[in-house]
Amino acid sequence: MKEIAPAPPPIVRNDVAAIQALFHQNVIPSYGRFDLVLSHGSGSYVYDITGKRFLDLGGGIAVCSLGHAHPAITEALVEQSRKLVHVSNFYYHETQGRLAQALVSLIGPGKCFFCNSGGEANEGLFKVTRKFGHDEGRFEILTTINSFHGRTLAGIAATGQDKVKKGFEPSVPGFRHVPYNDLEAMRAAISPATAAILVEGIQGEGGVTPATTDYLLGLRALCDERKLLLLVDGVQDGHFRTGRFQSYQRILESAAVVPRREGTNDNEQTWKSALPRDFLPDGISMAKSIGGGFPMGAFWVRAPYADLLGAGTHGTTYGGSPLACAVALKVLEVIRRENLPDNARQVGDSMKHGLENLARKYPAMISNVRGLGLMLGLELAPDLPGLSGDSSKTQAVRFANLLHAAGLLAIPAGANVLRFLPPLNLRQVEANEGLQIVESIFAKLNLK
Ligand SMILES: Cc1ncc(COP(=O)(O)O)c(C=O)c1O
Repeated sequence: MKEIAPAPPPIVRNDVAAIQALFHQNVIPSYGRFDLVLSHGSGSYVYDITGKRFLDLGGGIAVCSLGHAHPAITEALVEQSRKLVHVSNFYYHETQGRLAQALVSLIGPGKCFFCNSGGEANEGLFKVTRKFGHDEGRFEILTTINSFHGRTLAGIAATGQDKVKKGFEPSVPGFRHVPYNDLEAMRAAISPATAAILVEGIQGEGGVTPATTDYLLGLRALCDERKLLLLVDGVQDGHFRTGRFQSYQRILESAAVVPRREGTNDNEQTWKSALPRDFLPDGISMAKSIGGGFPMGAFWVRAPYADLLGAGTHGTTYGGSPLACAVALKVLEVIRRENLPDNARQVGDSMKHGLENLARKYPAMISNVRGLGLMLGLELAPDLPGLSGDSSKTQAVRFANLLHAAGLLAIPAGANVLRFLPPLNLRQVEANEGLQIVESIFAKLNLK
């Protein structure tokens, strides 16, 4: 075959500084990047260009649901790209229809729209809300303090963190924030203009804080009572990360409203995870893990509202392309075939126990361990003894640097929390390896 691309560079290289210089000179500096220059990955591991191996428990911030370089994703990309990469949404194609059907069957009666990112998925839900409330003059969406909903102008208006808004005023109107897990505060905040409530089942960027069962059930009842849409941002915590398709399904397992279905085996029950039939949000945004690394977003709207966005009211050129949908279908197929929801639950829950043991062993250094399945947060004590490094950086960033040096990637959230969002197929031995690395850092700090 004719060679169409130059040969890949050798794996071990010493041009870290040169690559960083390319960024400094040519890439807008909107990210605070770590020093690492990554080259390639395999499964739960990723390598930098100097050949150093890292256990990747950050998963590209909950994106790499099947790990790095999964052959099924490669195969889906190659096969579909031989047939049809892109067609305009002026036309039908099978993969988009089949993916929408799969998502609807995992959530409940409704319809899906496909886009390219989590921020864009939330924008779609904002537009559904505007249409929903339009004729009554209602447009406002209540969100929660410490939430994160994306970096578009409406996304930062929806996000309950001042740091993302600063310098971008005036804010898009129609968003107000109230404390998370506080039903009475939400009730008190409703105004005649309010049309929807938007929450994450587990606040991710805000520090891995799960909603309580009573909060979710209370929000549903409140929305029914006040004729509001209940919107769930499942961008980070969705796609089986917690052991259920959406985190609210896992959180509500303990609630009386969730019947265990008779006559289904455990595997089937896990897959058909829309167990809380009595509890359905009115809209859900999705992205990240859905494409396993291929950029994709989606939102689902419950049946009564699913046709609010009629022809000509919303669109995006690339959304739901044959290529993106083929990859997303393949990701779902692998998740199902390999029973990864149960893996996420078991390996995640055991990792959480491991972190809780560390918190008991080092109470002066670890304040809290939170999360469900493979979405875990480790909160460092506010003044972590012995933590060196650039004091202009947060503790979370400085701790992440120590983890990097020891061969592990984790993601900071806020000033003091480290997030673990690894692939859904993380093996128990890999989780144990990660715990050992984390412990080694605390053990060293303890000696200082
Ligand atoms: C809960 C939540 N919503 C929305 C977004 C925005 O997604 P994207 O970066 O794909 O636009 C994120 C990203 O981290 C997120 O965690």
